Amino acid sequence: MDYIERMKQKCVALRKQKKVKILAIESSCDETSVAIVENGRKVLSNIISSQIDIHRHFGGVVPEVASRNHILNIIPLVDQALSSAKCTLNDIDAIGVTQGAGLVGALLVGLTTAKALSFALDLPLINVNHIQGHIAANYIAFPTLVPPFMCLLTSGGHTAIIKVDDYVHFKLIGTTQDDAIGEAFDKVARVLGLEYPGGAKIDKLATGVEPKIKFIQHDIMSGSYDISYSGLKTAVINYVHKLEQNKEKLDVPQICASFQAEAVDMLVSKVLRACEDFGEKKLVLAGGVAANSYLRASLDKLSKKAGIELFYPPKEFCTDNAAMIGSIAYYQLLSSDPADLSISALANIPL
Ligand code: KG4
Ligand code: ZN
Repeated sequence: MDYIERMKQKCVALRKQKKVKILAIESSCDETSVAIVENGRKVLSNIISSQIDIHRHFGGVVPEVASRNHILNIIPLVDQALSSAKCTLNDIDAIGVTQGAGLVGALLVGLTTAKALSFALDLPLINVNHIQGHIAANYIAFPTLVPPFMCLLTSGGHTAIIKVDDYVHFKLIGTTQDDAIGEAFDKVARVLGLEYPGGAKIDKLATGVEPKIKFIQHDIMSGSYDISYSGLKTAVINYVHKLEQNKEKLDVPQICASFQAEAVDMLVSKVLRACEDFGEKKLVLAGGVAANSYLRASLDKLSKKAGIELFYPPKEFCTDNAAMIGSIAYYQLLSSDPADLSISALANIPL
């Protein structure tokens, strides 16, 4: 029997197995991560090696540098994830991996490692969409959370309002037409002289500061669920440059607080409207910017008012990690066929 037929049969058998352990790999951007996850919910280990300190010198992620560091990290991380979960490769039932979206060179390191493990160990290969992984981070944090729900995905590369119908079916309700929210945070931080990645630094500097500056007069996407960040980002950059040219002092905490409030408020109003329009009473946050304290506080307040139950993962599960990949890989294994070894990394991948 050829490889893919054998793997399909293994998946059928695994669906009846009480405990399924997945070794999951994430390498889509600047975090290399390997995790062992049982039944999509129980994290036995989740080892993350961040390259932030390396890319900080360049003010952003350099794809080639990221790929090279993933190569150095990946095998030691597989070993660490296994030993931390007190497992050996013989205990693993399937291999989960991020296929996209992300940097192709970076993705290829994780994907090639996953294919090699799958082939050598004769285990099913589950190819995962990174965005779906971010959503699944909530299944780890909230053991009783089940779809359907509305999701607000806010990461460095994506910003979207997604209707999650079940574990593997998603509808895109609205998305950014240009920059992602995390990208806007990072670019504004850069112009303010804050180190990469600046999102968390803006969050910290804005704490306790009442926003007073209005950078854009209205949301050009108002009325739609879609979002645009390039106007706001450019307005902040122009504001900063103008003050610098006039040799005026920058009130950095004030700029941070005002930008953050504008960036978050437009998103919050749209996602709450989407919940109302689609009759969803559960709202789930996902992605790196879900760690933002203003976003959390604002949604805490407004969702309560609207009678919506709000979920957000702990901060370590907001940013990239392999545990979330192991979680979605499990639900994918339950419902669809495994991947063939011919699959390639995808820079963009539909939901
Ligand atoms: O989800 P993620 O790890 O990467 C992608 O898959 O894109 O998100 C990283 C992004 C970065 O843009 C970072 O600046 C932002 O999340 N971020 C934050 C905060 N913590 C991380 N943005 C705003 N406030 C934060 N507290
Ligand atoms: Zn991510």
